[in-house]
Amino acid sequence: MVGINPEAATKAPPKVVTFRIRRYNPVSGREWWQEYKVETSRGMTVLDALLKIKEEIDHTLVWRYSCRMGVCGSCGMVINGVPRLACQTQIAEVADESNPVVTLEPLYNFPVIRDLLTDFTSFFEKHKKVKPYLIRNDKEEQEDPKGPYIVTPEQFEFMEEFTLCISCGLCYAACPVAASDPEYLGPQALGYLFRYVVDPRDEAWEMRLMIADDEHGCHRCHYAGTCSMVCPKVVDPAQAIQRLRNLLYKYKLGLLRKKKTSKPAPPPKEWKPRKPMPPEAQLVSPDVDLKKLEEEPVEIEVDGVKIRLRYKIYE
Ligand code: SF4
Ligand code: SF4
Ligand code: FES
Repeated sequence: MVGINPEAATKAPPKVVTFRIRRYNPVSGREWWQEYKVETSRGMTVLDALLKIKEEIDHTLVWRYSCRMGVCGSCGMVINGVPRLACQTQIAEVADESNPVVTLEPLYNFPVIRDLLTDFTSFFEKHKKVKPYLIRNDKEEQEDPKGPYIVTPEQFEFMEEFTLCISCGLCYAACPVAASDPEYLGPQALGYLFRYVVDPRDEAWEMRLMIADDEHGCHRCHYAGTCSMVCPKVVDPAQAIQRLRNLLYKYKLGLLRKKKTSKPAPPPKEWKPRKPMPPEAQLVSPDVDLKKLEEEPVEIEVDGVKIRLRYKIYE
């Protein structure tokens, strides 16, 4: 798996690293490899190096990034042949003294706009195709909600992994089927589809299974698993696709039991009005002798139980 590698933080990268970057200029149609030498420091990421190149060497270099912390999913690129997030990849992970060279390419299976910047339009169209939102039949509840739909901890645990996807497209870039069939829904969209099929709140599971049943849907998967290998959030889309296929076969053979979907939670119990505070606990009036209060315990009664309190006054 290509997640965060804490070991990398303990190593220092080579002092100077050569970044070999595949570039493309859409205006001239020219494609070429360009090299930049960057002085590095411990903890530096590939994104930091790109920003350094942009600021100090070549401001024409183009790529996409935003959060710098592995959350937005926008800085995906192919680093030394593997799709990774640039902000989550330390240089020490991908270069060492014996080979101080890092190769950067735009994500595979995506059209290139310029340099390392790729076009996600068709990727997000596929994402939209699987209807990545809850669908319910209880229209009345939708218009006038009475309470949240119940998801038990066990149900959430089962689907949680598939809710972590940040739509970075690394799995799609690693998928050999997406390379040969541009219409293939791909691991990201199918993983999302599975997440809603198993979500106890969703009632459109049959329609979703039919979307997966498409000729460019889950049957195209070779189950090579490279999608899961590169996921920076440790989602396992390959497993989701296998489970989806399993559900689909059972559904077609009439072996799938009707999904039990969750109902809105009952309204919370009425709050009991608070008991009034005992008079002894009210704010002390200014003419009370505070010193005396500290010295002599006060006795109060709560629910028939006598409690002796000794005050400590802090100035
Ligand atoms: S499944 Fe993983 S690799 Fe694929 S888009 Fe989601 S987060 Fe990225
Ligand atoms: S397991 Fe399926 S979706 Fe994942 S990379 Fe392989 S072919 Fe593509
Ligand atoms: S910049 Fe947001 S994931 Fe890398």
